[in-house]
Amino acid sequence: MADYKYECVKVKVADGIAWACLNRPEKRNAMSPTLHYEMDDALARLEVDDDVRVLVVTGEGGNFSAGQDLQKFFRELEKNPAERKKAAAAANRWRWERLYGYDKPTIAMVHGYCVGGAFMQLLACDFAIAAENATFCLSEINWGILPGALVSKAVADMVLPRHALYYACLGEPFDGAEAARIGMINYAVPGAQLETATIELAHKLMQKSPAVLRATKQAIRHVRTMDVPQAYDYLAEKGKAIKVGDREDSYNTGLRQFLDEKSYRPTFQSFRLGGTSSAARAKPAAKK
Ligand code: COA
Repeated sequence: MADYKYECVKVKVADGIAWACLNRPEKRNAMSPTLHYEMDDALARLEVDDDVRVLVVTGEGGNFSAGQDLQKFFRELEKNPAERKKAAAAANRWRWERLYGYDKPTIAMVHGYCVGGAFMQLLACDFAIAAENATFCLSEINWGILPGALVSKAVADMVLPRHALYYACLGEPFDGAEAARIGMINYAVPGAQLETATIELAHKLMQKSPAVLRATKQAIRHVRTMDVPQAYDYLAEKGKAIKVGDREDSYNTGLRQFLDEKSYRPTFQSFRLGGTSSAARAKPAAKK
């Protein structure tokens, strides 16, 4: 198993799940330049680590993240534009580009505080689960800046405009239940069940064909900005591409398990990964 050793990031890999944890608990996991460089490196390595099938992004010490470090990221870099540019590039790369297009499914697990710039990684992850008593806040209005980096767009894209305007313009805190109500996260659970709920979701995702899951999440994300003819064309080509790279041969496996073996119902469950029967192996179904 690969060794992930960092100062401001803690990585655990167990049972197919990588837990990438911001690790500055004494600062409520406020994000310093060092933390950004380390997360950028960790996520790049975890993406190609064969032991990892699902990525969870969270924070140590009971908090998700208090956003950018106002001292180390803002004040201390004001007079060092070169380092500021480098740190901002790393910050945006892991919080947005990497997570948004990640090859593996990603879950944000939120407890404690999720403030300001932490909405980047919250909203770039494919899924988000929070403790009911977590505290979310777009605090930037309260100290004189716009929501950090791409947060304004990410929030405006994720929730209805009324909610985006309200919370960005008022800067009022809201809890996990409200975050679920407005669609900022998938669901909220009692704090004591947060880790179990996250593992349950990860296990459900691991039952899917990785290639089909990757293509599906990319399709859902990318069609949002396409017009209908573009979407038809893109989706048709994406559908063909799945069949080239899908080691599970999902389409034929699924059809066989449903039609021939009558061993599952796709409305309620996934086909069995690697579940090619010996009869079917001897005489594979013709590819469509
Ligand atoms: N940047 C730098 N330091 C931060 C920080 C941030 N975003 N958020 C918290 N800290 C530091 C505090 O300065 C404090 O450091 P100290 O112990 O050296 O004094 C430590 O973390 C604990 O913070 P504290 O305010 O005492 O904890 P709390 O649990 O009472 O409150 C928050 C937590 C998150 C509500 C509060 O710290 C806060 O409002 N932080 C600012 C969050 C923010 O606006 N982020 C947006 C940045 S884009």
